[in-house]
Amino acid sequence: MIQIIEKKDHVDIISMKNDFLEIIVSNYGCTILNIFMKDKHGHLDDIVLGYQDIETYGQKDTYFGAIVGRVANRIRHGSFHLNGHEYQLAINNGPNHLHGGIHGFSYQVFDYQIVNDTTLEFSYLSKDKEEGYPGNLHLKVRYELKQDTLKIHYYAECDQDTLINITNHSYFNLSGHQESILHHQLKIKADHFACIDQNGCPTGEFRKVVNTPFDFSKESEIGPHLLQKDDQLELGHGFDHPFIFNDNHNQVQLYHEASGRRLTVSTSLPGAQIYTANYLDGSIGKDGKPYCKQDAICIETQNLPDAIHLEKNPTTLLRKNEKYDEVTSYKFEVIK
Ligand code: BGC
Repeated sequence: MIQIIEKKDHVDIISMKNDFLEIIVSNYGCTILNIFMKDKHGHLDDIVLGYQDIETYGQKDTYFGAIVGRVANRIRHGSFHLNGHEYQLAINNGPNHLHGGIHGFSYQVFDYQIVNDTTLEFSYLSKDKEEGYPGNLHLKVRYELKQDTLKIHYYAECDQDTLINITNHSYFNLSGHQESILHHQLKIKADHFACIDQNGCPTGEFRKVVNTPFDFSKESEIGPHLLQKDDQLELGHGFDHPFIFNDNHNQVQLYHEASGRRLTVSTSLPGAQIYTANYLDGSIGKDGKPYCKQDAICIETQNLPDAIHLEKNPTTLLRKNEKYDEVTSYKFEVIK
C-alpha cells in the first residue's frame, strides 16, 4: 500500500508498506527517510540513518538516503572535455566535484506519481548547464516494494551528450542503530578495488583485494578489517572505495547476527562505492541520537567514479538519445 502521509510546500512524505517492510520516502531528493523492519524476535526498528525533520536534509551534506546525481562520487577538479568543449562543474569537495555538485539531485524536489499499490515513480528535469553539466536530462526513478525487496529503477535520456552516474546513498545499520556496524558481517563479490588519493578521488590504480583488508569475498565482520594497517584504509579513514564486481547479481550482502537481519544488494551496475560513514562527526540524527564514525555503511551501486578521466570508453558517458536504464534491488530478510 502506498499513502501520502504529509504534504508541505511541494515536499511530500510517502509511506510504502506491506507485511514485511515500511519504507518512508520523500520527493525531496527521492530520499529514503526510514526503513522499518522486524528483527528475529519480532522487534521493529528503523535500519537507516536520517534526520528528524525533512528540512535538515537540505542543510547537511551527508546525503542520508538520497538519490545522488547527475554524477555520483568525484570528478577530478570538476572539469572534463567532451566533444571539443571543456566543461567546468561546481567544486564542492576539496578540489573536486562530488555527488552532482552544490545543488545536485539530492537537493531537488521531484515530481512523482503513485503508479500502483507497489510502485512510486519520481521524475525530474535537470536543465542544460545545471551544476555545469551539458544537456537537458530527463530522469525517472521508480521505487517498487514487493514483499521483502525494494527495487530502484533509474531511467534517463538527454538531448546532448552528457555524464551520468546515479546511486542511492542510504546509510544502513541493521541493528537499528543499537550499535555501530563493526559487528556487521559483509560479503562483496569483488576481486579488485580502486585506489583513492587523499581527497577520496580514484587515482586510476586498481588493486587485488586478496591479502588486503578489502577482501570480503567470504562473509566476515567489518571491525577487524578496519583495524588492519593499510595505506588505502588510512587515506579513506576507513572504507570509502569503489569495489569492482566479479558477478552480476547479489553482489553485496550485509548481515547482523544479533538481530538476524540480512540485506542483499543486487544490481545491473558494475561496482559500488563502499563507504563506512567515516565522516559522521557525532551530529544529531533521528530520535536525538548522535551519529558517529562507522555507525553505518553505504552501498552505493554505480559505474566507476571519475570514469570520464579513467576509462577509455567511459561508462558514465550518456550519448544524446541513448537510454540510461539501471536497476538495484535491496532484499531485507530475517534469518532465524
Ligand atoms: C563519499 C564520501 C563522502 C560521503 C558523504 C560518499 O559517497 O565517497 O567521501 O564523504 O559520500 O558525502
